[in-house]
Amino acid sequence: MRCRKCSKPAVINMRHHKLALCKEHFLEWIVEQTERFIRKYRMFTHDDKVLVAVSGGKDSLGLWDVLWRLGYQADGLYIDLGIDGGFGYSNQSKELTVAFAEERGLKLHIVDVVASYGATIPEMARLTHRGKGKPCSVCGLVKRHEMNRIARDFGYSVLATGHNLDDEAAVLFGNTLTWATGYLVRQGPVLEAVPGLARKVKPFFRFYERETAAYALLRGIKYIYDECPFSVGAKSIYYKKLLNRLEADRPGAKLQFYLGFLRAKEEGLFAQRAEEVVETLHTCPVCGQPTSAPGKCAFCRLVERVEEAKRRRELSNASS
Ligand code: AMP
Ligand code: FES
Ligand code: ZN
Ligand code: ZN
Repeated sequence: MRCRKCSKPAVINMRHHKLALCKEHFLEWIVEQTERFIRKYRMFTHDDKVLVAVSGGKDSLGLWDVLWRLGYQADGLYIDLGIDGGFGYSNQSKELTVAFAEERGLKLHIVDVVASYGATIPEMARLTHRGKGKPCSVCGLVKRHEMNRIARDFGYSVLATGHNLDDEAAVLFGNTLTWATGYLVRQGPVLEAVPGLARKVKPFFRFYERETAAYALLRGIKYIYDECPFSVGAKSIYYKKLLNRLEADRPGAKLQFYLGFLRAKEEGLFAQRAEEVVETLHTCPVCGQPTSAPGKCAFCRLVERVEEAKRRRELSNASS
């Protein structure tokens, strides 16, 4: 297989694009395509202050690298969730993220969940009996809240995450299996800002996971290979496998599935539902973030329950 642009040996063949490229042209292609998506979907401009949420994985570090090479004002945010999993998952990903930022002289915000809220994510889930033994829903809630908090407190106009096409197609597949219209209307590469919340964008949403992995490897980015230890058995992984089988028989099926959905939405599918779900937002009296119901937001209620549970545990330890 030869590179379409220069005829040198190709390092990747993207069957869905009928495009094979050598290392040099593939790395160039990823950067050019990212710039094209940022413009096409009006994600942000060079005047915006962008906060990139980085997990230490290939997608988010790759995205930060591309934005840096394109000259955007992109700072990073790493949230230390305190997940160990027997191999120091959070510590390792933090070290890789810190090293990445230092090598490029980039600014990185680090939020330490234990230092800020007194418990790791798995402890929070256990203390509050949330998530049927899995901390993923607590984790999602905390990550969303902290990303919004840092974006607001430090004046970022956009929050960028590293979601790729495989992530997005798996979520879409799950949402269409149950026709979860409330989620479907909100799913997309750009989520507009609402008062108190920055705009959210996913500049890598059109790249297959294989492409973002190849980018990180070929650029020599050191990222964490392991998945979060709690992702084992997750539905999204099962959906990804199903979609990969489909893709193997029909190259481009995943991209078509996702882009077809975006087109249908633009043509007005779910438009009525979108009007229905325009909620009146309230402001959380504790943290000031918008919330769908009056009173404290879900995050502040979680933190309160964690504190209560810890107090109860200390009292019972003291009396025994
Ligand atoms: P995930 O929900 O783990 O699939 O990650 C989706 C995206 O969320 C990643 O590409 C990152 O942009 C962001 N993200 C995940 N974990 C973290 C973290 N610990 N700190 C900052 N951003 C994160
Ligand atoms: Fe949050 Fe796995 S539970 S990353
Ligand atoms: Zn080439
Ligand atoms: Zn709150």
